[in-house]
Amino acid sequence: MSIPVLLDCDPGHDDVFAIWLAAGNDAIDLRGVTTVGGNGYLEHTTRNARIALTVAGVTDVPVAAGADKPLKRELTPGAWIHGDNALGGPVLPEPTVPLDQRHAVQFLADTLAASTEPLTVIPTGPLTNIALLLQQHPEVAPKIQEIIWMGGSTGRGNVGAYPEFNAWADPEAAAVVFASGLPLTMVGLNISHQALITEDVIQRIGAVGNATSAFGVELMRFFCSTYEKAEGMPEGPLHDPITVAIAIDRAVASVQRCHVDIETTGEFTAGATCVDLHDMLGKEPNADVAITLDVPKFWDLVTDAVAALA
Ligand code: BDR
Ligand code: CA
Repeated sequence: MSIPVLLDCDPGHDDVFAIWLAAGNDAIDLRGVTTVGGNGYLEHTTRNARIALTVAGVTDVPVAAGADKPLKRELTPGAWIHGDNALGGPVLPEPTVPLDQRHAVQFLADTLAASTEPLTVIPTGPLTNIALLLQQHPEVAPKIQEIIWMGGSTGRGNVGAYPEFNAWADPEAAAVVFASGLPLTMVGLNISHQALITEDVIQRIGAVGNATSAFGVELMRFFCSTYEKAEGMPEGPLHDPITVAIAIDRAVASVQRCHVDIETTGEFTAGATCVDLHDMLGKEPNADVAITLDVPKFWDLVTDAVAALA
């Protein structure tokens, strides 16, 4: 029995690996990829999602483009990490997989409504599309099995002292999702910085020897070079596929159930996830917060998925 999944993303180097892990592992039945403005403008993230599928030879997964900017803010793309087209590094081929003409929010609502079983929703970018889905189509919320989101942090940020990029890009959307009462797992920087792209990892992906692996190595090299410049981290963290890995195998990460508030107004902290790890507030928990990654198991999953693709 495979797990039906909708992946909402903003590719972005690590989003591409999330797409590949979802498409290349038999435990996942990837029912659609939707895109949002985040790492790049929507036109780039949508094109990049189609490129990720094209490179991997995946032709049967619909792609739909969603929100081009956050609910209440302007978009600031993550060009300092991902480049101007959000997928710096490799020469990008023309995508051949088609684009569904529906808005992603409509596509998500239609797909959830038509499904006979609940679907797992995996967002790896700002939560704009998911918040709009819950606001505009609350009737499909019971069809969401769970949400596994890459974003936030229990500690440090990456766009300021505390805020993480996906939460910071659209904190109002994150607040909607965290208040939804839906089963929610937060995969933040505290765990994603355990998924470091070491030289061994790059060699292992390269040794797979297919087109996906060659493209993947170029993505990893660019991503590590910008991480070195921006954060002094020559081994960049491959954040997004941890979400898919958790859907495949819960044992890949430990979690702690707790209450998370989203800071939308702080002078220094807007976009921070306030994770009450020590239950100081006594509030009802609203998320499973991922804490510790089984690093070898994670890279096995990623490598095996790349090997299963074109
Ligand atoms: C998150 O922001 C983007 O740079 C990555 O794709 C990831 O989703 C990490 O903060
Ligand atoms: Ca992302």
